[in-house]
Amino acid sequence: MKQKIWIDCDPGIDDAVAITLASACQDQLEILGISTVAGNQTLERVTENARKLTSFLGISQVPVAKGANGPLVRIPKFAGYVHGKTGIGNYCLPETDKQVEKDHAVVVLARRLASLPPGEKVTLVPMGPLTNIALLLRVFPEVAEHIDKICLMGGAAVGGNVTPTGEFNIWADPEAAQIVFTCGLPIVMCGLDVTNLCGLTREQARSLKERVNPVTRMVGELVEFYFQSPVYQGRELAAIHDAVTITYLLHPDWFTGRDMRVEVDCSEERNRGMTVCDFRGDPGEKHGVTVLLEVKAEQVREFWMEKLW
Ligand code: BDR
Ligand code: CA
Repeated sequence: MKQKIWIDCDPGIDDAVAITLASACQDQLEILGISTVAGNQTLERVTENARKLTSFLGISQVPVAKGANGPLVRIPKFAGYVHGKTGIGNYCLPETDKQVEKDHAVVVLARRLASLPPGEKVTLVPMGPLTNIALLLRVFPEVAEHIDKICLMGGAAVGGNVTPTGEFNIWADPEAAQIVFTCGLPIVMCGLDVTNLCGLTREQARSLKERVNPVTRMVGELVEFYFQSPVYQGRELAAIHDAVTITYLLHPDWFTGRDMRVEVDCSEERNRGMTVCDFRGDPGEKHGVTVLLEVKAEQVREFWMEKLW
């Protein structure tokens, strides 16, 4: 039986690669829909990218819905310094007549979940700020019974990438993240502890770019753009953070995680956006958040090269 997933994202270079990977694994995954959220770029830009990408990948039957245009409390802050002005580097996706859903993504997602037969569940896969997911849980709590788990890219047990303790997706909307981490549903946190180790090399990006298949070439170009950003200057590996969520769903045995209590720093102080992971936990106590801490990174990389080739 295929795992049913809903992707919530802000494409975003690594979001685009993650969606490409999911689309390449449709023998095991059923993508019910894609919702967008302001994050790496404005809501308009990331939605445009998601809309065109689904056509480009040949999955235009997957609905794309436009969600929150900024975080719950603060004004949005984008990441053009990594993902470029459009959100997907210099890559130009072809025009398409595919339409975005008319209703707000949170409504579209709630409706889709509510339409499932009793007992049927979906895995939510957020790859951007958690604004849409927090809104869903607050506005439509009754649909939680159709959520199997939330497998998200965000946070870190140790460190950050925007501030010393803040990872972008959580830092961009800490209040939303706090709602999600404490909602009581099973959560898998694919944070920087593992995603920083899962990447592609310059050489791999170049070899993907030289392939004939246009989708493979796109992935190569996107990853090459990463290497031009200030973040990856002088680095050998470009982390494809968001693709780790999809990889975990298909190969959980490549990861080691630990159940713990995770809360988000929503203060106005220097650790705003930090995922505070409590390693102390009493044995036998269950918090429902699995924080991934170790990964067989080489296997992940080989898997990506095979599926994205
Ligand atoms: C996360 O932040 C975004 O810039 C990426 O798309 C990824 O979701 C990594 O911190
Ligand atoms: Ca993202």
